[in-house]
Amino acid sequence: MFEFLTANPAVALLKADHDRVKELFDRFEAAKTRPARVKIVRAALVELKVHAAIEEELFYPAVRKPVGKDIMNEADEEHHVAKLLIAELDAMDGTEDHFDAKFHVLAENVRHHIQEEEGEMLPKAQKVKLDFAALADKMTARKEKLLASGVPPVGEDAMVKASRGKGDSSARAAKRKPPKLPKRRS
Ligand SMILES: [Fe+2]
Repeated sequence: MFEFLTANPAVALLKADHDRVKELFDRFEAAKTRPARVKIVRAALVELKVHAAIEEELFYPAVRKPVGKDIMNEADEEHHVAKLLIAELDAMDGTEDHFDAKFHVLAENVRHHIQEEEGEMLPKAQKVKLDFAALADKMTARKEKLLASGVPPVGEDAMVKASRGKGDSSARAAKRKPPKLPKRRS
């Protein structure tokens, strides 16, 4: 039984993806130059988009019912927030004032999501009676296809596009002049 748990090929595939993106997050923190940081962000966005797609298309539907609605719905919402930030970062060239902050927040969000998946969802999922080898094969094939052809646009891309650059209200608010306030009497 224990051997089966650790040898689950679909879970191993997801964990390997997690380790790769966490390494990219660490490399981003350590990178000193703008081109180096932008390059790491681009690589991380591709990894995250492909990973989210194979989870949402294949892994999540296969385990949703036995794992339970609460855990799975929370994972969906974490994907949604991440995909919104990914879509915004995709539309940026890396020179923007909030580019690094946006990626930091994405990294924090994804690290938290990984912790929940590895701590809660995956241990439950791998107990499900399923042909995980067949699922892993499907996930690998889909992953290769997406890496070769690119991930098709998702709803969050359309949301960011529809905002025509006006969606990021907090970043725009940061450009506001400070309010005029009376000097404090000492
Ligand atoms: Fe996920």
